[in-house]
Amino acid sequence: MNDALSPGGELLSLVGVGKSYGTVRALEDVSLTLRAGEISCVLGDNGAGKSTLIKIIAGLHQHDEGTYTVGGEEVRFDSPRQALDLGIATVYQDLAVVPLMPVWRNFFLGSERGMRRWGGLRLAADGMRATTREALARMGIDLHDVDRPIGTLSGGQRQCVAIARAVHFGAKVLILDEPTAALGVKQSGVVLKYVTAARDAGLGVVLITHNPHHAHLVGDHFTLLKRGRMAGSHPRAEIGLEQLTTEMAGGSDLAELSHELARPSVADPLEPPVSRETRETREERPQP
Ligand SMILES: Nc1ncnc2c1ncn2[C@@H]1O[C@H](COP(=O)(O)OP(=O)(O)O)[C@@H](O)[C@H]1O
Ligand SMILES: [Mg+2]
Repeated sequence: MNDALSPGGELLSLVGVGKSYGTVRALEDVSLTLRAGEISCVLGDNGAGKSTLIKIIAGLHQHDEGTYTVGGEEVRFDSPRQALDLGIATVYQDLAVVPLMPVWRNFFLGSERGMRRWGGLRLAADGMRATTREALARMGIDLHDVDRPIGTLSGGQRQCVAIARAVHFGAKVLILDEPTAALGVKQSGVVLKYVTAARDAGLGVVLITHNPHHAHLVGDHFTLLKRGRMAGSHPRAEIGLEQLTTEMAGGSDLAELSHELARPSVADPLEPPVSRETRETREERPQP
């Protein structure tokens, strides 16, 4: 990626992107721009096309409509390796880790350092241990024992290690697919903290989530997907948590559902059905 990239500069951009799987139209006319030092959230219900979108960005799938540019140049990746070479790192929900391997081995997985010793090539274990410890500490992650099998860390801790890894290996763009979906409140908070640490290190982050609260805590921009189409695109200044939650919940769909679920009072079958509001007003009235 362009090294002269300034903070706030455009990292990547999708314009009018579409993608079909056979006859399934997974994405249609989706546009998104990501800048350095920015967290761009993509929200949507199951099946909205979120994973498809990030798979295109990450080079796992190809778009069949629209344009995708990285650092101002149009791209069409044949493999995730090509995206990674341009600094686009992706952390998938089912983290690709080897559970029984120590944290430091996982940190360097695929990028191991070797050293010549006694005529053979050996892993430079001590150096990699120290580097892992330093890289985690730089992100504010306090993990004393990097020899622990990574499988013994909590889901949140593993997400944090993956984020620190992307930052350490020079990613410019970090894509996170529902990093907090399987986590409790506290662990989600910790992961979101490292997401902001990656942003503060100058990366552009694409955060996929279906939790408007998590998105609103950290997001600079919000893109809403609904059945493969953009249902909204707002900078932070334009949208509050309440509106984000309503849009996410499907606004009018939810109002309709709530109307359908409301049922007439069964207390007095002779009385005509009353709406919940009327009922509440009535209950509040002091009884004679
Ligand atoms: N490999 C695939 N083959 C066929 N259909 C797919 C494939 N991946 C996703 N889809 C379909 O594309 C739509 C969007 O899916 P996806 O991008 O996974 O949504 P999300 O991540 O928002 O849940 C869904 O209708 C899904 O069934
Ligand atoms: Mg998905």
